[in-house]
Amino acid sequence: MKEELKKIKEEVLNCKKCSLFKTRTFPVIGQGSHSAKIVFIGEAPGANEDKTGRPFCGASGKILDELLAHIKIKREDIYICNILKCRPSQNRKPQKEEIEVCTSYLERQIKTINPKVICTLGNYSTAFIFEKYGLKDQIQGISKIHGKIFEVDSLFGKIKIIPFFHPAVATYNRNTIEVLKKDFEILKEI
Ligand code: URA
Ligand code: SF4
Repeated sequence: MKEELKKIKEEVLNCKKCSLFKTRTFPVIGQGSHSAKIVFIGEAPGANEDKTGRPFCGASGKILDELLAHIKIKREDIYICNILKCRPSQNRKPQKEEIEVCTSYLERQIKTINPKVICTLGNYSTAFIFEKYGLKDQIQGISKIHGKIFEVDSLFGKIKIIPFFHPAVATYNRNTIEVLKKDFEILKEI
């Protein structure tokens, strides 16, 4: 298991599959427990993540830490990664072609870690994961489906998929942190 994650790391460090490799400082591969029961998937690295190679280490990361603290789950017990491993410049949105070529890494990470719960943060990771697990017809804006549990069958048994607002929304609208906190409480229950 660890071997495969190491292999993914090596490949991502050398990856030139899309043009984002040209402007990255470090790719952000993922962080946390390799046997995590919960995997969080964000969108793409921002400026701080690009500088450090660590996911959610800037303003959004602070919100995420606050949410995890709220439900008393430690960062080292979960695994956090993103749809795209390299930072889109000016924090623009991920492009379709970039998602297409990059997500084979994410798929391998999920397969290797084999979590029981996948938490998607924001529209991009929600759309990707819903499509991957046959929930395409249930894709709606995150404001409609946040905090709901979607159970699916995978090759390795049942998985729960739970979409959340991206923590970044709470950095410009502080009120949403209450919604996020309430949604995160679901993780405590399951
Ligand atoms: N936003 C994300 O989606 N991912 C990060 O790693 C940081 C900010
Ligand atoms: Fe490779 Fe993904 Fe980085 Fe593009 S974003 S260069 S596909 S690791």
